[in-house]
Amino acid sequence: MLIDGKPHRSIWPHDDLKAVEIIDQTKLPHQFTTLTLADVSDAARAIKNMHVRGAPLIGVTAAYGIALAMRTDPSDANLLTSAELLRATRPTAVNLAWALEDMRQHLFAEKPEDRCARAFTRAAELATDDIALCSAIGDHGLTLIRDAQAKKAGQPVNILTHCNAGWLATVDWGTATAPIYKAHDAGIAVHVFVDETRPRNQGASLTAWELGRHGVPHTIIVDNAGGHIMQHGDVDLVIVGTDRTTASGDVCNKIGTYLKALAAKDNGIPFYVAAPSPSIDFTLDDGVAEIPIETRGSEEVTHIPGQTADGRFETVRIVPQGSPALNYAFDVTPARLVTGLITERGVIAATKEALALAFPERVVPALSSAVL
Ligand code: MRU
Repeated sequence: MLIDGKPHRSIWPHDDLKAVEIIDQTKLPHQFTTLTLADVSDAARAIKNMHVRGAPLIGVTAAYGIALAMRTDPSDANLLTSAELLRATRPTAVNLAWALEDMRQHLFAEKPEDRCARAFTRAAELATDDIALCSAIGDHGLTLIRDAQAKKAGQPVNILTHCNAGWLATVDWGTATAPIYKAHDAGIAVHVFVDETRPRNQGASLTAWELGRHGVPHTIIVDNAGGHIMQHGDVDLVIVGTDRTTASGDVCNKIGTYLKALAAKDNGIPFYVAAPSPSIDFTLDDGVAEIPIETRGSEEVTHIPGQTADGRFETVRIVPQGSPALNYAFDVTPARLVTGLITERGVIAATKEALALAFPERVVPALSSAVL
């Protein structure tokens, strides 16, 4: 995407393939800085500490992490150890396991001396594929925005989104934001309500930043305002991302997404989930029972970072000393609350049948018995 007119991706390898560069998302929106990942430990730390985040980007960063590991030691043992190091960073986004399995399959077939070059090539292919998947999601999602526009008599189409499922969470375009960027670029009037998305404020700090950079009209709202503006007819559709969608269409995404889905259902507002296939876990069925939900440090709830009036960066406490806090990072929206999944192969129902039909090659036999 463009930053000040210059095309950017969220991750890119150095020309000599000796390191990988990322946009440091912990510094946004106040500072645009990058970080160099020189080895697999750097890649694992960048994922765990959320210098990079968002399911697709976590997957691509892990792939580059394996490539950096192969530069250090291309042995079978190091391939397995490095994959375990990366897998242990965050449990919920299925793209991580998907990318590690893809790299394992591609690299075990290679002689160790060829693995580093092959790994960088494969990681670059996954990055390019991610851009194509997101762009296709943008094209399919654009039809939903056009349909909404037809009912708006020239008024902007108001879209609510939660967290950041933008180009910063992928390699480019984003998932939930791709239809929005395509609509805006096509001259369709859109306006985005951006949930701040406590506790790490990915909406307020990342989604607002990237929409602003692209000139897309948007308004930041507190997470609890979504239901109210829906009741008052201010939202035409909701589009969010996913960290893991099951074979039956249950959607896991940033904490608070489930509450938005309930409010959308109660107000008859379409609730769409942008779901590239690497984020669909065909080995799971019941999302609430089976998806591992990350819990993160309580300090993310008790403290908040920001910029002071004189430009310094500070983290301040916002709760009483001694009060404990619980920090679930994701929740699950049951398929029954999802109007549709915007995949790279089209907009489909959040059902076993529709997912199996759209992705027959991914259907897991054990689960398929329930499909037919
Ligand atoms: O904790 P995060 O910031 O990694 O959570 C990100 C989300 O929940 C996104 O909505 C999801 O990963 C989809 S990103 C295209």
